[in-house]
Order: sequence, then C-alpha cells, then structure tokens
Amino acid sequence: MKIVSIIGARPQFIKAAVVSKEIQKRNGIEDVLIHTGQHYDVNMSKIFFDELEIPHPNYNLEVGSGLHGAQTAAMLEKTEQILLTEKPDWAIVYGDTNSTIAGALAATKLHIKIAHVEAGLRSFNKLMPEEINRITTDRISDLLLVPSQNAMKLLKKENLAENSIFTGDVMFDSILFYQKMAEEKHSIESITKEHDFYLATVHRAENTDDKERLQNIFSAFSEMDKPVVLPLHPRTKSKLDGIKFNENVKIIDPVSYLEMILLLKNSSKVLTDSGGLQKEAYFMKKPCITMRDETEWIETLNGNWNFVVGANTKLILEKINVNQFDEQKEYYGNGNAGKNIIDALLKY
Ligand code: UD1
Repeated sequence: MKIVSIIGARPQFIKAAVVSKEIQKRNGIEDVLIHTGQHYDVNMSKIFFDELEIPHPNYNLEVGSGLHGAQTAAMLEKTEQILLTEKPDWAIVYGDTNSTIAGALAATKLHIKIAHVEAGLRSFNKLMPEEINRITTDRISDLLLVPSQNAMKLLKKENLAENSIFTGDVMFDSILFYQKMAEEKHSIESITKEHDFYLATVHRAENTDDKERLQNIFSAFSEMDKPVVLPLHPRTKSKLDGIKFNENVKIIDPVSYLEMILLLKNSSKVLTDSGGLQKEAYFMKKPCITMRDETEWIETLNGNWNFVVGANTKLILEKINVNQFDEQKEYYGNGNAGKNIIDALLKY
C-alpha cells in the first residue's frame, strides 16, 4: 500500500509525524510526504522535521503565502501533478488548513481515496476559513478519522457516520511521545527567563486583522498578575504597529514543538486562539482561556479547564482568576490514535 500525506502548516507536521511513526512499524506500507510550503520560515517549518526526528518531505511545493484562493489553487495544481506520478492508494490530509482542502480536492478528482485525520470538528462559524476547509474536506473524504465522540455525533448529524471511525486524537499520542524528548533536548531557561508565567499565543485572522480585538487582547496581557510569555507568529508580528502593551508581555520568536511542550509544562495557565493549544493545555492539565468566540474542542470546557472569552479584556482577566477545576476525563482516546488510523486504512 502506498500513502501520500499532504501537509503544509505547523500542526500538520506533528500530526503526520504520529502517522509516519506508525507506518515505520509496519511492513509493506510506503509513506510519501508532500509539503505544500504554506509555512516556510525555518522556525515555522524545517525546525519541526529536524527536531522531531521524522522523515523530511519527499516534495516541497514552495507555495508560500497569498490570498486564500491563489494559495489554495497553487497547492491544488502542484499536488495534482505529484499524485499523477506517485499514484498512491490513499491520500491522507490533516486538520483544516488550506493545505488540507487543496490535498483533498486534488486527490478526489483523481479518484484517489482520501483519509481525513481530525475529522468532524465544527465551530459553526463560516467566517473562519478553517470551517469551510473542514466541512468540504469531510464531505469528499472516504474515511473520516475522528478524535472525539462529540465529533462522531456531529458527523452522524451530517449523515457521514458510515465513513467515520473514532480513533482518538493524534495530538494526544504526540504529547505523550515527545514529552521526554523535550526535556532531553531543551531547558526552559534557554527559552524564557520567567519562572512563574502565563503562556500565550495569538495568530487567528479574526484577532490579528481586527485592531480593536488585538488591542483588547494585549491590554488584558498587560494587566495580568503574572508575565505573559508570547511566542509570536509572523502574521501577528506584522500587525503590532500601533498596538499598546507594557513590559508584562514577554514576546519571543516562534518556538519549536518541543520548546512549546516545555513552555506549557512550566506555565501556570494558557491564553490562546489556537485550536491545538487548547487541547494540549488540557492534556498537560493547564487551565486555558480561549480568545475566540467559539471552540471546536467543546469537551475541554467541562470542569472549568477552558473558557471561551472572545477578545473581551474584562472577561479574559476575570477567567484567568478562576482556580477551581473538576477532575479531567479522557475524551481524546488513549494515545493510540496513530495505530487506530493505520488499522482503519488497512481494514477499509
Ligand atoms: C494556518 C491555518 C490555521 C492554523 C495555522 C497553524 C489556514 C487557513 N490557516 O494559519 O488554521 O491554525 O496555520 O499555525 O490554512 N507567514 C510567514 N511565514 C510563514 C508562514 C506564514 O511570514 O512561514 C505569514 C505570512 O504573512 C502569511 C501569514 O503569516 O500571509 C498567514 O499564514 P497562513 O499560512 O496563510 O495562515 P496561518 O495564519 O499560519
């Protein structure tokens, strides 16, 4: 069996690493990686492959940034050419980025079976490009590999239950696997001098492209009782002109995945607009404040582990002070998602 994985953005490198590791354990499966080049800065891309000790992509399409239509179209055109040459049995796509929908579209037109890892998530906000990407990808995929029971229910409502298999979440596998490597390869002192801090990330278009929202978020960070360590996405960096904040905000360059695990481990709480980090905070038992208007990971809201607060300064400051939590449940499987995914493909 030959599998082509199509990836392009930071979190997809990690998700594909889990699947590649599982493929390496089996005989007779060929693993081909296409990197669309959606993320191209060294510390947004290459660093992940180097440090996670995973195979580097066989192809890099070097598509780079651009308007959604142009970026997706360039990926689609170049992926199609490679799929025509490689003729895989399966195309695997991950999550909800432009690389996901481009890979899925290229494959489906060539009648190549598609497996969608992290299927079934919905924010019910069609203003998010990711929501369009996931709905359309789920619709055209042959096999929906689903991280949570809630996502299974959503797929059933959309009449997609027949193609759906609960596998658990690859990001849970990943954090279990890479924690030890993070401790071995890095020390927290080399990432930040802070000892008692909140960890924050901001990169969503809905926050970075709206000056008022971005200012509200930075105002909240400036007023917090602990320093806020903020590894900064290049898009957010380019939008900081005119945004006011004080020395409580400790901006650092984007960090690698292993460095992120260490930051998480050493932080007291997390503030983010990322999807993945909300869940990683949950896995590491760190309370999370989500600076968006909705979340796809609704299980994390139970027991006060996550609060959806939008870009509301007052609410962000209010929820960061909540300190009562219920016991957590294992909503995202038991760390065997990679195995379940390959089993599902083989059984199909
Ligand atoms: C993308 C995904 C988002 C995911 C995120 C993970 C889509 C629609 N969005 O968002 O769901 O959470 O990846 O990190 O696919 N840039 C650089 N260097 C890079 C990459 C980006 O400077 O290596 C800058 C460019 O100005 C670019 C902007 O960041 O225009 C946004 O990058 P893009 O890949 O379009 O989306 P992300 O915000 O990274």
